Amino acid sequence: MDQTEILIAVAREAARYAYAPYSGFAVGAALRTAGGEIVTGANLENASYGLSLCAETVALGTANARGLLAEVVEVAVVGGTIGGAGTAPVRPCGRCRQMLNEATQLGGRDLAIHCAGLTGGVRETHRLSALLPLAFGPADLA
Ligand code: THU
Repeated sequence: MDQTEILIAVAREAARYAYAPYSGFAVGAALRTAGGEIVTGANLENASYGLSLCAETVALGTANARGLLAEVVEVAVVGGTIGGAGTAPVRPCGRCRQMLNEATQLGGRDLAIHCAGLTGGVRETHRLSALLPLAFGPADLA
């Protein structure tokens, strides 16, 4: 199992803790830091639907709480309908791309984003700069 497959496996484990009673769609995220640590998150929905948090954002918040926001180097995102086949790769939503860009700009690393389903061997990898070209970020506020 290569390093990317390990990160995807950890994201799949995280997705088991998704709280997604409204969408029925579980997402897991795993961030790897420059120091080799892995930080995870799962989507966290709310009865007030619009307040729901995505898995990537939860993982970034946890990384930040541990002082690791600028240390993120790569990310695995997986998801799928709970109880479904879930083999199609899940790509970060627009808001999460913007949240991930903060780590990219702070750390000076164009994050690798690995996308997969809850199961299956299909995976794809993108640079954050390809998912969010011409991004607005901290440098624009300098
Ligand atoms: N979701 C994520 O956790 N990350 C994404 O990048 C896309 C969407 C979650 C939000 C919601 O709980 C569920 O997937 C369905 O949209």
